[in-house]
Amino acid sequence: MDKYVIEGGRKLYGTIALQSAKNSVLPLLAASILTEKRVTIRETPQITDVLCMIQILRELGAEVRFSNGNVVVESADASCHEISSVLTGELRSSVFMLGSLLTRFHRALIAYPGGCDIGLRPIDMHLNALKQLGVSISERDGCIFCECDKLRGADILLDFPSVGATENILLAAVKAEGRTVLTGAAKEPEIVDLQNFLNAMGAKISGAGTDVIEIEGVKELGGVSYKPMKDRIEAGTYLIACAVCGGEVETTGLTPDNLRLLLHKLRENGCKIHTKNDKIRIESCGRLKCNRRIETMPFPGFPTDLQAQATALNAGAEGGALIVENLFETRFKYVPELQKMGADIQVKDRHAFVRGVKRLHGASVVAGDLRGGAALVIAALGAEGRSEVLDLSHTDRGYADFRGKLKKLGAEIKRVRV
Ligand code: UD1
Repeated sequence: MDKYVIEGGRKLYGTIALQSAKNSVLPLLAASILTEKRVTIRETPQITDVLCMIQILRELGAEVRFSNGNVVVESADASCHEISSVLTGELRSSVFMLGSLLTRFHRALIAYPGGCDIGLRPIDMHLNALKQLGVSISERDGCIFCECDKLRGADILLDFPSVGATENILLAAVKAEGRTVLTGAAKEPEIVDLQNFLNAMGAKISGAGTDVIEIEGVKELGGVSYKPMKDRIEAGTYLIACAVCGGEVETTGLTPDNLRLLLHKLRENGCKIHTKNDKIRIESCGRLKCNRRIETMPFPGFPTDLQAQATALNAGAEGGALIVENLFETRFKYVPELQKMGADIQVKDRHAFVRGVKRLHGASVVAGDLRGGAALVIAALGAEGRSEVLDLSHTDRGYADFRGKLKKLGAEIKRVRV
């Protein structure tokens, strides 16, 4: 188990070439078995969630190569429709495989999915939608078994815009007989990316990015070579890190519209933000004012995946902030670790009351989930003195070369084997 050793207080300067979006690449990998033709996903980041998804595809019988950032999937010989609990336990995105497996084999058996420990995360909306597409669902030894003679298009209404359920419906309806109209869909940019990817394979999907998506089932899907969108959460993480440390950082490859609310909040903190085409530049003097209130919401609201990093920022800023987490029940588990660094934060249910302190101090802290881990790294970069962030298995799930990229910006950060 590795740890980061971080000497706080260095300003950050430079440019970050963003990785492709984790939350885009994972559903694209799930979609790769929808055809027997070759699928190439270019510029894929080396993160453990991706490696785990590749492992799942191999278990199904697909041939997968991952070199020079390109993942090439040949699934002509794929024949297995079962995913073992070992892999689903590690990766919640394995739930997307339901839609893909049903389209490809008309049956799927998967163990209940895992992922970050940030709340209940049920999959009732996924399963209800699949039922409406003609799938019968039963439980066998803690696994979900889905089966259908054929998938039939349907009118589906989601009562909450679940990202994963929306993506699963796209994957299950893409070759269904007739038309599916999904109302109440999630509007995240990664869903637009999935639509573009599937359409490049020959699908007929429109409306992604709005709350109504129409899917006209097609008979066949072909191969594709596709470059996914850049990672808005990775971008936000480096921008917040620069805000906290002071300095000047530019991200490239991501349209600023993908992060509108974060950029607004960073301006409130006192940072200067400049945007042009696919570039976002932040200038920070490192002395920040708290945001009065940040409330996570489905896109285009403030992303829950940047909530922890924003709390770390506010912990060392002037004033007070109320952070409200609306998406997941227990997404403040990193707070006790921030408190070890001197943060003054009280959590009650889905609310965190932050009283900014002048400066956090170094401490030994443990990362318990992906974004909470990133928040601890940010806090350590801005803190006075040395910190250790233990258990990098979580940040490795979502940040390719986290240490290398921060070091290039001027951070003093080492990765040490424990
Ligand atoms: C995706 C993202 C994750 C992000 C989240 C919210 C991926 C791989 N992960 O996760 O990084 O934090 O969107 O932006 O893209 N829910 C139900 N029943 C369901 C499905 C969801 O109650 O069937 C609830 C969840 O418990 C949660 C909320 O809906 O409280 C949002 O979940 P959802 O949008 O589905 O998130 P994920 O797809 O799991």
